[in-house]
Amino acid sequence: MEVSVTQFIKGLPKAELHLHIEGSFEPKLMFEIAKRNGIKLPYTSVEELQAAYQFNNLQEFLDIYYQGAQVLLHEQDFYDLTWAYLLKIHEQQVHHTEVFFDPQTHTDRGVAFDTVLDGIYRALSDGEEKLGISFRLIMCFLRHLPESAAFKTLESALPHKDRIDGVGLDSSEVGHPPSKFERVFEQAGLHGFRLVAHAGEEGPSDYIWEAINRLHVIRIDHGNRCLDDDLLVKRLASRKIPLTLCPLSNKALQVIKNLNTYPLLAMMDHGLLVTLNSDDPAYFGGYLNENYEAVAQALSLTKPQLVTLAKNSFSASWLSNPEKEQALKRIDAYYDAHKH
Ligand code: HPA
Ligand code: ZN
Repeated sequence: MEVSVTQFIKGLPKAELHLHIEGSFEPKLMFEIAKRNGIKLPYTSVEELQAAYQFNNLQEFLDIYYQGAQVLLHEQDFYDLTWAYLLKIHEQQVHHTEVFFDPQTHTDRGVAFDTVLDGIYRALSDGEEKLGISFRLIMCFLRHLPESAAFKTLESALPHKDRIDGVGLDSSEVGHPPSKFERVFEQAGLHGFRLVAHAGEEGPSDYIWEAINRLHVIRIDHGNRCLDDDLLVKRLASRKIPLTLCPLSNKALQVIKNLNTYPLLAMMDHGLLVTLNSDDPAYFGGYLNENYEAVAQALSLTKPQLVTLAKNSFSASWLSNPEKEQALKRIDAYYDAHKH
């Protein structure tokens, strides 16, 4: 029996490397948690909330995303949020995930750093134990806030170094270049955190150069705009600096017009280590498989191209080399069994 591309994607072992846990907050769960916490959302129903998910740019999305996160108060809230995401990706054959969280979104409302971290981490540990999903955790600084606030956040994270693998940079990009956080990233690096940053989503290719040369990141989140600069593309390719692309996010935030012109194959031809990810799946219309599926349909991807993308997702991850090799073997075995 021929296996369709859709079926092929569903069973393909994958890793996710660009996922904001607050962006996986589904409207139904948001209403449930709001109710139990006695918080009133400015919408009367799930449908009314979902109808507000129409964005012209990154900032319009961020305004709604931060508003949604305000109902999260207790450790159990952060657990439930994270557990719901894990159950979803478990259905989708996502075997490894590297999750972002935004502590400042919560600490600025008076929620303790430990409450946020404890809830997310407990769910991730349960996910590893009960669902077999391995994970890494990345704490992001909100770039629209001052450097001093990022330093304070780094300070709060230091007692929890054993549970936080990396630091990243997200929120409103234009006007907040990576260089604003050069000193805090230097400190984070000295403390042993792995470094990543959102760059070149709405911001220019210069921001990607800054992320590499001044923040010393080992992965670029989004990075679409690298294609404006040939030298940068060569640098990313020769240094094998992965890009974590998010196609449905780019479509929803109008970073790109439509997926038919998504430059994924051009990037692969240039030798870039590109991966597909969902970014904020509750807001952008799909989890990881929906992202693979949308791109596969728009660009008529072949099974070998999908295999390359899945392999890239593990190669670009922070798993150990033996774990990566095991994952790549699993993908090869899957391809052999489902190539026709
Ligand atoms: N870009 C910047 N900040 C974000 C995003 C994004 O795509 N998602 C959540 N925070
Ligand atoms: Zn993102």
